[in-house]
Amino acid sequence: MNKKIFCYVGSPRGEKSITINLARKLLTYLSHRSECIYKIYSPSELKLEKCLGCECCSKNGNCELDKVDNFDKIKNEMISSDVIILGTPVYAGTISSYLKEFIERLSLWLHIFKLAGKCGVIIATSTGNSLNETAYYLRRIMHGWGISDIYTMLIPVQTNDDLEKAEINEEINRCVEYLCSFLAGLKKPASNNYLEQYFQTLKKLYLPVRNFEHYEAKYWNENGFFELNSYKELLEILYKGK
Ligand SMILES: Cc1cc2nc3c(=O)[nH]c(=O)nc-3n(C[C@H](O)[C@H](O)[C@H](O)COP(=O)(O)O)c2cc1C
Repeated sequence: MNKKIFCYVGSPRGEKSITINLARKLLTYLSHRSECIYKIYSPSELKLEKCLGCECCSKNGNCELDKVDNFDKIKNEMISSDVIILGTPVYAGTISSYLKEFIERLSLWLHIFKLAGKCGVIIATSTGNSLNETAYYLRRIMHGWGISDIYTMLIPVQTNDDLEKAEINEEINRCVEYLCSFLAGLKKPASNNYLEQYFQTLKKLYLPVRNFEHYEAKYWNENGFFELNSYKELLEILYKGK
């Protein structure tokens, strides 16, 4: 069966965006090597509402804004994908506000490991500064969603013509190799210290309220997370028999 790849790039520059063109190049190369289907979204087509801070998502699992901008369709696409790619230009030292707004709408997932077992790719471009700081934040977000295995592409670049440079193509090919081995099942998701600590922190937080009317604690209860001793165990259950 075709593997599915979801990509969101937080650049408002559409066809002119270096980051979008880089993501397109990566996915074109990948589709020559592996049977996959992909879609690249950006702010030009996803007109997302900004999070209102009502916390309804944590309390009852719903976001009223999903009815306004159909973000639930995007969420379902992410859930049914094998690989999640987040791309961003560096703006003022960190991710763009477009990507931040996208992430804020998925804050609930930071507490319920909604994307556990998937593979992640981070793409950040800038004229040279703050790539590591940007990637550090995005890795935390992806880990928070439960994504354990992440490839990070940090590309200093001035124009779209730079995407033809040998070193950038080599980096794209390294990422393609990584994704191919994941998609072929040669590489299984592996836990790490950050995810283990985060799992224990959330477990301690939700255990006392497991029977309360609180969506996040209920989600943990209903999905048997409290019975697990580690995040590694969750990944083992997800990948049993695969
Ligand atoms: C508002 C704004 C802020 C930026 N801030 C930085 C920065 O802090 N550091 C940097 O190296 N480049 C910065 N840049 C340059 C972009 O990160 C760079 O041109 C990027 O590759 C553009 O990606 P895009 O074509 O996909 O939008 C900034 C550009 C803009 C428009």
